[in-house]
Amino acid sequence: MITSENYDILIIGSGGAGLSLALQLADHGIQIAVLSKFALTAGSTYYAQGGISAVFDAEDSIESHIEDTLDAGAGLCNPEIVRLTVTHGKESIDWLRKQGVVFTEEQTKSGDKKLHLNREGGHSHRRIVHTDDATGKAVSLSLIDRAQEHPSIDLFEHHNVVELITSASLGKYYKNGDKRILGAYVLDTKKQMVKTFSARVVVLATGGASKVYLYSTNPQSATGDGIALAWRSGCRISNMEFMQFHPTCLYHPNAQSFLISEAVRGEGGKLILADGSSFMQHFDPRAELAPRDIVARAIDHEIKKRGIDCVYLDISHKSDAFIKKHFPTIHQQCLKFGIDITKQPIPVVPAAHYTCGGVLTDSYARTDIANLYAIGEVASTGLHGANRMASNSLLECLVFANRACEDILKNLASITAPPILPQWDESQVSDSDEEVVVSHNWNELRHFMWDYVGIVRSNKRLSRAMNRIELLKKEITEYYSHFRVTSDLLELRNLVIVAELIIRCAQQRTESRGLHYTLDYPEADNSHQPKNTILSP
Ligand code: FAD
Ligand code: SIN
Repeated sequence: MITSENYDILIIGSGGAGLSLALQLADHGIQIAVLSKFALTAGSTYYAQGGISAVFDAEDSIESHIEDTLDAGAGLCNPEIVRLTVTHGKESIDWLRKQGVVFTEEQTKSGDKKLHLNREGGHSHRRIVHTDDATGKAVSLSLIDRAQEHPSIDLFEHHNVVELITSASLGKYYKNGDKRILGAYVLDTKKQMVKTFSARVVVLATGGASKVYLYSTNPQSATGDGIALAWRSGCRISNMEFMQFHPTCLYHPNAQSFLISEAVRGEGGKLILADGSSFMQHFDPRAELAPRDIVARAIDHEIKKRGIDCVYLDISHKSDAFIKKHFPTIHQQCLKFGIDITKQPIPVVPAAHYTCGGVLTDSYARTDIANLYAIGEVASTGLHGANRMASNSLLECLVFANRACEDILKNLASITAPPILPQWDESQVSDSDEEVVVSHNWNELRHFMWDYVGIVRSNKRLSRAMNRIELLKKEITEYYSHFRVTSDLLELRNLVIVAELIIRCAQQRTESRGLHYTLDYPEADNSHQPKNTILSP
């Protein structure tokens, strides 16, 4: 039975970020492993709806895209990173088209075809390139196809990383003296065995952490594993208080995490109460097209003030043909729940959607550990600041995959192969006899994160949540040291760390800014606050 694998590059994650990097490296004679803890389509990328922001419209400009991003980020974006990302928008879309992604087009007056552009909150122009309302599926399936046919890329589904292996974690067993990444221990969940992957370079492309909350638009995979792995290995983590809540997740007892794209508001969708009255104009002059922190907070406010379960998003004033053409997936999906969006408003609630903070990286996606990179939602690059603007995330995945590729290719020749790494030691553990501990703690964690560390926070709520974290951490650490690892246990162990990092960052920010809103400090404070919240292990 094979328990060791050796590669030049180990990419943890098969979403937009991980696969883009793998494909860009693959033509350079490098052996690459890409891991996904579930199926290859497991990440958020596959579920992305609205699209990818890039400047294509003649009326639009790079400067305008930069300005909108900085504005949404509420003073915390790194302007150089914003410029770097935005200026690579067009070439990123061109690259995706070369990989076979087909984007929605429209006919010009002269009969030619051009990309159809959506509009979303915070964007002052139409600049969202998309494939109907299922952009992520189109991107994901094309990249997976390309990767599957490439001889330099080996794809490992159902491989869940347990722990990174660094020179420091090997301690006295590693004699070279340099501080670097060496590989990872990985649970093959089909065979229920832990393998050792050794690699010269390791890349975290593990996506976000929104599953730390009870209600989320994210798929099951979004448990912040990369953030927890990096933290335990000694990387700094930044800006975790900025968890983004998408304003419009379908509210229906049988709908698990189905998003109603912001593009619906971009095309004229109105937020209303059950009596048909609109309310967004009371919160922001941009009304439905305000950035999503403002819209999500407004909805939360209405729900709590009125004691109602949801608000409604109404696009039914548009023609049937328009709705079915622009939102075929949303239309079909809602029909399954008995909601015909051509005729009736859609019940919606906010839900955790995106992790703006993460593993602190530089402009080449390098982390604090040599040869360990972080790209995509797991990273904190400085692009999003205190609030990510819609459709800037897939763009970030593409641009930073490209930046990491450039840096890896420049340095790979000088990085030696790791020594033979020790195997995972299971001699001290047995099979669990109380799986209920894991499921119980999962539920508890997500509930109190939603109640105490959600859209509206306070000092008291944060410290209540922190008290519970301390207890859970103890219990989970004890459980982990006695029992064989399972996927659920690994995720729980990571989630509790991520939750703690969110709370610690939130406690440090004694102001309200972007996605962090606290009743104790309801205003932004430009004079005393740290620009970014940075936690060191
Ligand atoms: P993901 O696509 O989430 O992939 C993560 C990968 O890491 C998966 O393969 C997973 O299996 C793997 N993984 C995680 N942990 C481990 C582990 N321990 N071991 C092994 N593998 C692991 N953004 C936009 O810009 N535009 C949009 O229109 C848009 N719409 C969205 C709609 C929805 C419903 C959601 C949820 C998000 C949306 N976003 C959108 C955000 C965007 O989709 C994500 O930020 C982006 O796709 C993240 O890509 P990624 O490659 O970093 O991670
Ligand atoms: C959406 O389609 O509303 C999601 C866009 C995003 O998260 O960027």
